Amino acid sequence: MRLSYVLENLGNIIIVKKDYPDWFTISGGKGGDNHYLYELSYRFENPQPLTQASLKIDVEAVWKRFASGQDGEILERTGTTKIVSFWDWVLKDPKMARCIFIEFDMYQYHLSIGASEAIGWLRNSYHSLAQQLCYQDPAYWALVTVSRPDLRWWLLSFPYYQKYALPGQGTYFSHVDLNINEWLKCCRGANRMQTSISLDQETAEDCTFCVEGGHKTLEAFWRNEVIAKNLDKNGNTAKMSDLYTKPMEDKYGKSIPIVCGPGDLRITNQAVIHGATATKNGSAPGKKVRRVLNAWLVGMDDDHNTLEIPQLGNWETISRLHRDLLPSKHTPSGNINYHHPPKQRFPAAIEFRGLGPIPDARIGQRRWDSPAVFEDAQALLGGEEYSAQAEQIIATFRQNVRNRYVAEFQKMRRTEINAYGTNSYFKAVREGRWIPTRKRLDNGGGVWPWNPTRKRHGDFDIEATDDVSDM
Ligand SMILES: [Fe+2]
Repeated sequence: MRLSYVLENLGNIIIVKKDYPDWFTISGGKGGDNHYLYELSYRFENPQPLTQASLKIDVEAVWKRFASGQDGEILERTGTTKIVSFWDWVLKDPKMARCIFIEFDMYQYHLSIGASEAIGWLRNSYHSLAQQLCYQDPAYWALVTVSRPDLRWWLLSFPYYQKYALPGQGTYFSHVDLNINEWLKCCRGANRMQTSISLDQETAEDCTFCVEGGHKTLEAFWRNEVIAKNLDKNGNTAKMSDLYTKPMEDKYGKSIPIVCGPGDLRITNQAVIHGATATKNGSAPGKKVRRVLNAWLVGMDDDHNTLEIPQLGNWETISRLHRDLLPSKHTPSGNINYHHPPKQRFPAAIEFRGLGPIPDARIGQRRWDSPAVFEDAQALLGGEEYSAQAEQIIATFRQNVRNRYVAEFQKMRRTEINAYGTNSYFKAVREGRWIPTRKRLDNGGGVWPWNPTRKRHGDFDIEATDDVSDM
């Protein structure tokens, strides 16, 4: 019946299609996948898509490849490990290091003086070039993958702000970035690691402290000392400043300073109570500049959409934040970001992209089940037989970054000058109207890495010849 009608009206087929659109789609569907007939486009039935289980991960080989054989064991035992000099390839390149520190100062200059208490955070910076590099580094991702008990490797970098603590600032906040009741109930966040890359030489007074072995004692502490005593005011982050007192330390584990040097990567189990050492009330304010980058890696389910912390949205949400260089509306643990994040991208933020399949996947600009991503992931996470291939991937990534970083920085600098005119950071510095924060005498006078207990500094002085105008 339909067929004869169509045959009779072939001359007016456009009108027929318009009048009876359902006749021209599979099962009469109006949109949806059925509409596209793609099932009929391939000669053979398609194989099952790649999943996280398709990869063969050699945990021991990965630790040896990117850190030391002991780091995995230290992390398991104490809840924290430190990969020394992990970012030497960035910070020992004087030009890249200078670009990074200048950019920190630019964001610091643009931070609203009316912003809520910053406790050392640059709460206007979500996609600086340094942060984008931190979000995409494939060796960083490989180490976090093998740190996770579930070995989930579809991990997205959640964009969040960076740390720039100055002398005199209180930075103390003892906490766990977990909803502990959800963690106890359904293990939410149990496989997550928190990480940071330090850019300055820290001291025991200016660093992150972590409860030694805290991932093994948190449950007992919370049940016996918090829930049993009705002290539970749990949210997606659990504040510990008043709960984890000295007697608790004696019972459940000491808070110890994790002193990092420039380029050290710290990996800490999410269930470890931690914080910064300089106290909030000013009784022991920070003594020196401390700059830190974090990439909050969040795991994804095999549906390639659901995140292990559902409050953060899904793959599409994170992908869009990176694509558009937007701030996140949540904190990494799932709270609403009440620190007044900017409503729009920073006008001078520049996309730093095209660094390879894994870097793309980390920021949601390529799917994790893409064959190119899978191939690189298998090499980076595989056994000894993949070592040469893994080395090549890392070398190519680093060379690519080195080749482009300064040019991207210059693009960002030009954009900032054009966007802000007389309010531009670079203009203000050039015209002597603003002293970059790192160059103020109380911040080390431009010496890096600055050690306030010594007159001179370490082996590498990138700031001594720092001149913004030639960058
Ligand atoms: Fe934290």
